[in-house]
Amino acid sequence: MARILLILASKFIILSILSSSGLIQCSREDDHDFVSILDRKLLGLKEEKLSRFRIYWHDIVSGRNATSIQVVQPPNGSATGFGIISMIDDPLTEGPKLSSKMVGRAQGFYALSSQEEIGLLMSMNFAFTVGKYNGSTITVLGRNTVLSKVREMPVIGGSGLFRFARGYVQARTHTFNLKTGDAIIQYTCYVLHY
Ligand SMILES: *[C@@H]1O[C@H](CO)[C@@H](O)[C@H](O)[C@H]1NC(C)=O
Ligand SMILES: *[C@@H]1O[C@H](CO)[C@@H](O)[C@H](O)[C@H]1NC(C)=O
Ligand SMILES: *[C@@H]1O[C@H](CO)[C@@H](O)[C@H](O)[C@H]1NC(C)=O
Repeated sequence: MARILLILASKFIILSILSSSGLIQCSREDDHDFVSILDRKLLGLKEEKLSRFRIYWHDIVSGRNATSIQVVQPPNGSATGFGIISMIDDPLTEGPKLSSKMVGRAQGFYALSSQEEIGLLMSMNFAFTVGKYNGSTITVLGRNTVLSKVREMPVIGGSGLFRFARGYVQARTHTFNLKTGDAIIQYTCYVLHY
């Protein structure tokens, strides 16, 4: 018995030497060499913080300086505009006036995705351009029923100072110009990040 164990043990040692030297390959299901567990301190991650910021989103569809361009027309005159897609590069400002301090841009698209009501799928990055936030982004992806008073959408991630971000935004219409279609929307963002 002891001899068998000894033989098995020496076989195991030889196999380990061969496999660690790369001479034979062990293909075990749970061998995932491309994955490693890191200590979060290595990335300088400390306490998770909760930040709130309130900004104004300007969707300018009219005039020569439009920031929102319809790129897909509805296939058939739907009452809710179902199927329309607009690309946006909308200014984000500190106050409701477009002339107030610019803090970044909302870049992405929205698509009319409801056949029953005016409901958008929003898919956009808030790319900040001020101070320490310059170059950092958060990504908003969600459902925006524009006629509701408050629309909540998830923040699904971020970059730079907002790495590992998660949270939500609440959108409230500040003004909507019926003549031009231009809109100013207040976005209050609640973001957990490091
Ligand atoms: C468009 O932007 C330019 C440059 O900022 C400005 O001079 C012009 O007045 C704007 N035009 C309109 C129609 O807003
Ligand atoms: C548009 O909708 C109408 C009414 O529903 C329908 O009769 C027509 O065939 C549709 N046209 C196209 C191109 O889908
Ligand atoms: C933000 O970063 C860009 C690119 O690094 C730089 O060109 C720009 O001057 C910065 N803006 C501010 C306000 O710091």
